[in-house]
Amino acid sequence: MEQLCVPQGQFQLSRYPHREKDTLRAWDAADEYILNHLADEQIPLSGNILILNDSFGALSTALAAHNPAMMSDSFLAEQGLKQNLLQNGLEETRGRFLNSLETPDKPLDLVLLKIPKSHSMLEEQLHRIRPFVHTGTKIIAGAMTKLVHTNTLKLFERIIGPTKTSLAVKKARLIFSDVADLKLPDNPYPLTLDLKGEQFTHNHYTLSNHANVFSRESMDIGSRFFLQILQQEKVGSDEDLSIVDLGCGNGVVGVIATERFPNAQLHFVDESYMAVDSARINFQRAFPEREARFTATDCLAGLEANSADLILNNPPFHQQNVVGDFIALQMFKESRKVLKKGGALWVVGNRHLGYHAALKRLFGNCTLVASNKKFVVLKAVKR
Ligand SMILES: C[S@@+](CC[C@H](N)C(=O)[O-])C[C@H]1O[C@@H](n2cnc3c(N)ncnc32)[C@H](O)[C@@H]1O
Repeated sequence: MEQLCVPQGQFQLSRYPHREKDTLRAWDAADEYILNHLADEQIPLSGNILILNDSFGALSTALAAHNPAMMSDSFLAEQGLKQNLLQNGLEETRGRFLNSLETPDKPLDLVLLKIPKSHSMLEEQLHRIRPFVHTGTKIIAGAMTKLVHTNTLKLFERIIGPTKTSLAVKKARLIFSDVADLKLPDNPYPLTLDLKGEQFTHNHYTLSNHANVFSRESMDIGSRFFLQILQQEKVGSDEDLSIVDLGCGNGVVGVIATERFPNAQLHFVDESYMAVDSARINFQRAFPEREARFTATDCLAGLEANSADLILNNPPFHQQNVVGDFIALQMFKESRKVLKKGGALWVVGNRHLGYHAALKRLFGNCTLVASNKKFVVLKAVKR
């Protein structure tokens, strides 16, 4: 836990989930810049405030006295917000959470937006808030300078109105956008991805991908290799398998697993609300008669121990802007708990990532099922 000292007060903040030896803070220089700017310019905080993409709730906690709503695509950000409010003696209701597919219920007076990593997500979010802003709305965005490009500013100009930036302070920059009467471009999201011609299926699936979904414009080459192998190999019996698509993204892995095992019970899990919703749309479109479960959570948190026969996983290699294998390792560890005895975790990953050693350490076994120049498919069985 570290202390954020800003004009609004001093706040004890932690990242979520807590990781031992984590030296990273729960906020960045852009959060400080936004909070200092609000105080320096004496910006009124009396109306309806919406905060977007607040990584762990730093802005929402510092402004909790003004009842902001916070909108994010991340289950981890939602948990971070709750944890940080409680940790500072603030009620949870002080930071009303809206997931990225919800909309505000009233016109907005102040919008504070942390620029997301994905340009598509920013585009979608500007379209989403646009009907709720008016000429009196103040829109202040903030980011580390590496995330502010000419294209970022053009997006604000096209969807909101005239836009300018501040000087950089501690490598962070603010963006100010005035709401103008514009001829708005169409919101292109969700995108459609056609799976015609893929070798891993003869069916013609059309996937719907929300703006923040992994590999939304084309099939990921790792997932493609994984699905080819899953179709060829003996993965399990064709009985009532209980299958988890862990880190499901648009659900393509679970959809193909359902095609392969028509009697299976599928559970799609991801920490992104947009991913879980895309998986739901894609599964229901592919199998209108079938039911499945769809859960936004951190790795496998909340899933019953000893309940799954098969877990399929193409692990992420970053959480927000932090790159590493820590989420993959957490996914493997929790998979061991959630698998039944005899159940298996199948993983696809880049060859160089060393998942083989990690799985062997956790499960006591790991088989190399297939490999090509770039990827390996690994299998670990719970004994
Ligand atoms: C490499 S993508 C794989 C997506 C999909 N399975 C595919 O193969 O196209 C990894 C997915 O893990 C999700 N993810 C990242 N961190 C997570 C976490 N802590 N818990 C659950 N899912 C997470 C990401 O949102 C992303 O959808």
